[in-house]
Amino acid sequence: MKATFDEYMLEKKKQIEQDIISHTQVESTPEELQQSMHYSLAAGGKRLRPILLYASYETYANRSSRVRNVALALEMIHTYSLIHDDLPALDNDDYRRGKKTNHKVFDESTAILAGDALLTHSFHLIATDDELTDQEKVQLITWLTEASGPAGMVAGQILDIKAENSEVSLHTLEKIHALKTGKLISFAVQAGAYLGGATEEQQQHLQTFSHFLGVLFQIQDDILDITGDVEKMGKPIGSDAENNKSTYPVILGLEKAIEYRDYYLKEALAALEHAQADHYYMKDLTEYFTERDY
Ligand code: IPE
Ligand code: IPE
Ligand code: MG
Ligand code: MG
Ligand code: MG
Repeated sequence: MKATFDEYMLEKKKQIEQDIISHTQVESTPEELQQSMHYSLAAGGKRLRPILLYASYETYANRSSRVRNVALALEMIHTYSLIHDDLPALDNDDYRRGKKTNHKVFDESTAILAGDALLTHSFHLIATDDELTDQEKVQLITWLTEASGPAGMVAGQILDIKAENSEVSLHTLEKIHALKTGKLISFAVQAGAYLGGATEEQQQHLQTFSHFLGVLFQIQDDILDITGDVEKMGKPIGSDAENNKSTYPVILGLEKAIEYRDYYLKEALAALEHAQADHYYMKDLTEYFTERDY
């Protein structure tokens, strides 16, 4: 019998967290660095990007051991991006995933280096994965560097930082969201579908789908930065206002921001249908991305 969505989420989260424990003991890593990397990775987190990668893969294929390392690598890069995002030089936040941020527990230099180490190690995980062919490894690493690097997540982060204290247009804000958050989310969908053997045409539709999904995810993040519950979120509320960030609710007001989010949801679901990928857990996940309260 097919597991319910909640059961599926729990099962995947358990798998990912087991893998985090068994894969983060990197040989010859100095103790302090090891602890700092492990602290943020194991701190909790919804694990939505690796779960999305699994769901995308399992929509088309079922040997999910093939995506284990890629999913873990993606969670490592996401975690590194959060450690750096919270640093005093960026968003300057003290809590993340319900705990003190990495630089508050360790020191700033250790937090920076833990981020560097997680980023680099993620590529090693893919490059040494016996479940993947050489061609698949090169393709995945190419996409992952594009998604996370200077034309992807990092590009979005610098545009976000440079836009502080100024008003940006809605068009620019959509671009920032698509880069800083959308790119890693798109990678999850793209990598899963590719390894699962989706057709070229399905992959094209999924690209459209994941663009909308990424932006709606960040719109909801911006909404929760205003309306969320601190305990539930495990990170501060009002961080965006404190940093004078442009966000959807700031530019449009809360009500219109919710309308935009729901418009993106509609577009995402339509693209998912075109990719014939709306029968598995992808649809539930898309709705969860929109309705989540943490
Ligand atoms: C937070 O991502 C950072 C953004 C890109 C908005 P998540 O909301 O997925 O954070 P975790 O992984 O659950 O902590
Ligand atoms: C972060 O966006 C995107 C990243 C690439 C980490 P935010 O700065 O809004 O994420 P939170 O709210 O701190 O999780
Ligand atoms: Mg930020
Ligand atoms: Mg932040
Ligand atoms: Mg935020």
